[in-house]
Amino acid sequence: MLIKLLSKSLLLVLMLTSCVTIRKNISKAPEKNEPQINKIIRYASLAGNSHNTQPWKVEVENGGTVINVMPDLTRKLNVVDPTSRGLYISLGAFIENLCQAASYYGLQSHVSVIRNESSDNTFARITLKPAQTEKYDLTAMERRVTLRTPYKTDTIKTAHLEKLTAGTDGCVKIISSAKLPGQYIAAKTLEAYAIQARREDAKKELAEWIRFSNNHVKAKRDGLTTAGMGITGFGGLMVSMMYKPEDSMKDSFIEKGISNVKIQTENCGGWLLITQQEDSPESWIKTGRVYQRINLRCRDLMIGMHPMNQMIEEPAFEEDANKYLNINGKIQFVARIGYVDKYPEPVSVRREIKDFMQVK
Ligand SMILES: Cc1cc2nc3c(=O)[nH]c(=O)nc-3n(C[C@H](O)[C@H](O)[C@H](O)COP(=O)(O)O)c2cc1C
Repeated sequence: MLIKLLSKSLLLVLMLTSCVTIRKNISKAPEKNEPQINKIIRYASLAGNSHNTQPWKVEVENGGTVINVMPDLTRKLNVVDPTSRGLYISLGAFIENLCQAASYYGLQSHVSVIRNESSDNTFARITLKPAQTEKYDLTAMERRVTLRTPYKTDTIKTAHLEKLTAGTDGCVKIISSAKLPGQYIAAKTLEAYAIQARREDAKKELAEWIRFSNNHVKAKRDGLTTAGMGITGFGGLMVSMMYKPEDSMKDSFIEKGISNVKIQTENCGGWLLITQQEDSPESWIKTGRVYQRINLRCRDLMIGMHPMNQMIEEPAFEEDANKYLNINGKIQFVARIGYVDKYPEPVSVRREIKDFMQVK
């Protein structure tokens, strides 16, 4: 009787977990003879990026020794990211992963940021050459996630802060959630999130990147999936089967999102801010590299990281935040951080490299 019950529950759990498409369900095992450069670019694409738009295009030149990483403007979030800051932060995160993956294969990377006058775009050219270099770990890239669960409110230990921010050239500031400036960020993030979430143009833009059904996830391999948004278990199954992307524009969905964000902002140990002296694609790429470097260190320390940029995306809040927090430079990136007991495996999906890579 007990065995029957256990096997039924096991079957139900298996059904529930296999019903919502997650990264491991659609990732094929790499081909045996996959060129090294393809592996490096695949690792690069595991980087965090806004709304999982994966706004990158890659050209591989010179037998895999030169890689151009360019913005794919068809994937730009025109409403919430009109300046392309989030887009270039996402490219920066991709570049950081690319350089770390290259180091694993004994290649040193040199990154130059180039302004293309004719198209008014900025892109990065990365040259790779064999050299003795610090060897990074590929597993950290495979297992990095944006963690949206509530965190513990304990202050992050100094030794851990030092590990997280090592080599980030003083552009990172971590503010305890227990202090007044931390409470300010929590309140303003929630306020700005609610305004954005209820705005018609932002709702429409978000709906374009929502992938509820498994077929949609498999067809697109990008965007915010049911599991990616942290909607799991039976609820996740129901949402993936019954909701359409436009349902994300309904009041009930939006208000649930706002109450989740309230819980998130109230449950963290601190706020991580990345600042730069100027607003430029180059400084945003730097910001993205720093974000990704820090996020790759989080899992080993059982620290969750969750970008929440609404306070600086909404113009009415950005100026006030920079004035009130008065940090050296302009705030370009905001994330909540905090200790967690459980660190789930990544679920967000990625396109195949053939979808965005061209060999010249
Ligand atoms: C510039 C930037 C802004 C982001 N803003 C948010 C955000 O406001 N809320 C959120 O839940 N995730 C945010 N993210 C995280 C992305 O949604 C996440 O990286 C993407 O969905 C892929 O998931 P993964 O990081 O787990 O691989 C942001 C990421 C970046 C790079």
